[in-house]
Formats: sequence, C-alpha cells, structure tokens
Amino acid sequence: MQSNNYLLTNIGELFGILDRGISQLKGTDQSKINTIKNAYVLVENGHIKAFGQMSECPSYEGAIKDLQGQWLLPGFVDSHTHMVFAGPRHNEYVMRLQGKTYADIAAEGGGILNSAKRLQGMSEEELYQRTFDYAQTAIKSGTCALEIKSGYGLSVEAELKMLRVIKRLKASLPITVKATFLGAHAFPAEYKNNHTEYIRQIVEEMLPVIAAEGLADFIDVFCDEGFYSTEETDYILKAAAKYGLKPKIHGNELGITGGVQVAVANQSLSVDHLEHIGEEEIECLKASETMPVALPGSSFFLKIPYTPGRRIIDSGLPLAIASDFNPGSSPCSNLWFIWSLACLYNGLLPEEAFNALTINAAKAMGIESTHGSITVGKRACFIVTRAFEHINEMPYWFTQNHAMEVMA
Ligand code: NIG
Ligand code: FE
Repeated sequence: MQSNNYLLTNIGELFGILDRGISQLKGTDQSKINTIKNAYVLVENGHIKAFGQMSECPSYEGAIKDLQGQWLLPGFVDSHTHMVFAGPRHNEYVMRLQGKTYADIAAEGGGILNSAKRLQGMSEEELYQRTFDYAQTAIKSGTCALEIKSGYGLSVEAELKMLRVIKRLKASLPITVKATFLGAHAFPAEYKNNHTEYIRQIVEEMLPVIAAEGLADFIDVFCDEGFYSTEETDYILKAAAKYGLKPKIHGNELGITGGVQVAVANQSLSVDHLEHIGEEEIECLKASETMPVALPGSSFFLKIPYTPGRRIIDSGLPLAIASDFNPGSSPCSNLWFIWSLACLYNGLLPEEAFNALTINAAKAMGIESTHGSITVGKRACFIVTRAFEHINEMPYWFTQNHAMEVMA
C-alpha cells in the first residue's frame, strides 16, 4: 500500500497490540503478546488511527485492502547494524574456517581495519548505492526501522563520509533510520601505540563536525578486550554527551570487561553483545534503564558463546535482539533467522523473541513511542504473513522470509 490513508480488513490475526505508554516488556511480561483475531486496522496520515474486531470495523470511503485471513505484525526494528561497508570479508571467513579466531585476525591488522582500508578508498556515492541496496534487502524481510553505525572509516574524513551516507539514507528510505557514530570501533594501525591521539581526533575533530551537521543520533564505542578500555570509553562518552549524543555500547563480546558498568554509568540506551556476562552485570542492568541487546547472528557466524538471554529475562530484565548486520561478524540482515537463533541458542521462547524484535528493539533505539507495536498513534509499518497454526512457526521454519508484504 503506497497511500498514507487506508483500511486493512479481514486480518486473520493481528499481533503485538500494546497500550499507549508501554515502552518495553521485561521478565515474565516479555512472553506476552496481545492479539485480535479477525481484525481491521485503519491508517490515517501514515499512522494507526484505530484497530479492532471486524464486527466493529467502521465504514470507509477510501482505499481498502482485504487481507483474506492473512496475519499482520508490527514491522521489525533492527536496533544494531553496521550497514555501511565497502564489501564482504569472505577471505577472513575462510581464514576462520581454517582455524584462526576473530581476535587473531584483528590482531594481525585484518577485521575492522581491513574494512576501513577498503572504505577509505570508496566514493560516497558508491557507498550510498551499496548501502541502499542492503537496506532494500532488509526491508523486504520486514525491517521497518534501522539503526546504522559508522566505524569503518577510522579517520576524520572517512567517518564523516559514512555518516553523510546514513544521512542521505534517512531521506531516501521509506523507513525510520537512526545514525550512530562509532569512530571508536578500533584503533587505526598508525595509532595502535598512541591511543591518545586518535581519541583526540574523535573528540576534537569528529564530534564537533558531527554535531554541527546533525550527522548522528547516538554514540557507540567498542569497549572490549583488545579494543577500547573502560576509561577510554568513559572519556569518549562524556565528550559526546556534551553534544547531546546518547550512548549505545558494544560491550562484553570478547570478555567480562566492564562494558556493562560503563554503559550504565553513562545512561546508555542499550548495551549490545553481552556474550560474557556475570551476576554483577545483571545486577547493574537491573538498576538501570539500559536495554540489554543480544546479537545471535554474530555468535553464530563467529562460533563464540551466545548471550544468555534466558538468564537475562529470568532475572526480570527486558532483552532486545538485533541483526548486527556487518561484513565481519554477521553478514545477515534477515531478522526471521535472528528470531530462530534467539530461540535455539539464546534460550528465548518464540513470543519473547517477537517482543525482543519489536517493542524492546524500539526502546533500544529510542523510538518506542512511534514503533514496535500496534498502538493507536504509532507509525503504520506492518508485515503481512500467511496464516500459520501458531506464531511458534515463525522461528520454527528457519531461514524463511515470512514477509509476504511489508508496509513500511
Ligand atoms: O558488532 N564487535 C564489534 N563490531 C562488529 C564487528 C565488526 C567487524 O568485524 O567488522 C560487531 O560484531
Ligand atoms: Fe556491532
């Protein structure tokens, strides 16, 4: 449906209904999904105006689409991607198949630095086209809001180039896009032994331009073993806070390194990865508003431990999941597959993973008042699927794109 005003009728089942003001689902509530069978949804000016039982469907003069029993879900929210990149890293994939680890490859100057080298030599126009195509693929499988990070530039010029690509995508894509500045993704080889100088460039040369041109919504740092220390992370986050950039942090992927604590201390919107997490981290998150985010695509692809999602939810916390779409650790933007992985390996029930991909993911990127559920006033972005026996089937049929239509 291209129009901003329409009526959807005969929806077999409408999923993900939430009252206004609910910003996340946590603990035992995360497995709850409100639905209406045989429903309608009325859309006005691109927003949900009303929904309910077909028996109460208002008469309507405008465009009507009869879903003939198909199901309707709120569009997926992908709260963590590195969608701007210059090309695949299939050679490193094969190196890992032959026994090297992700950390070995990074230490040898591959990994993120490899992506940075290639991106620095690519024009903004080509990068834009590539990313636009990747975004189209994601949208076709149901992604209706997208966070995209910089971080493969690692120089003033190249980081700004990435962020300008994301700014153009905000204008050209039919979905909501948020930009995250991740200049602190790795240290460029020439600053391996001079962290202070690269961090100075981030703080004194990148942040002021980013703020002046409105190039980022959030700030991220890869706070982990072999990357940024908690002290370096804290310093960068505090500098970014002066420009109003809220943090979303990469933490605890490679070890228990204090990423959670530094994220929470800086009021991060989310802390993502968490493959390594102990009781102290869980207690710290419980005393915060920071959304824990699991990225099972990167655990799958790197063959590293999975985030203990079951333990996180059982401790009363919310959990979001995201694709982490990137050329090094998760070349997959298909959130249906991420849903399957979250059930099989993060220990989530299908319903918990659905809420992790919708309302909790929206909270992880600060758009919970407009996305992530069927709620009057929220943006009309929907996924149409066939009618199944049960929602369990969505992650059960793994690797399938169940989106028959995406209304973005
Ligand atoms: O989220 N862990 C840090 N960054 C990305 C991977 C980046 C890369 O390998 O290119 C991630 O997994
Ligand atoms: Fe990531």
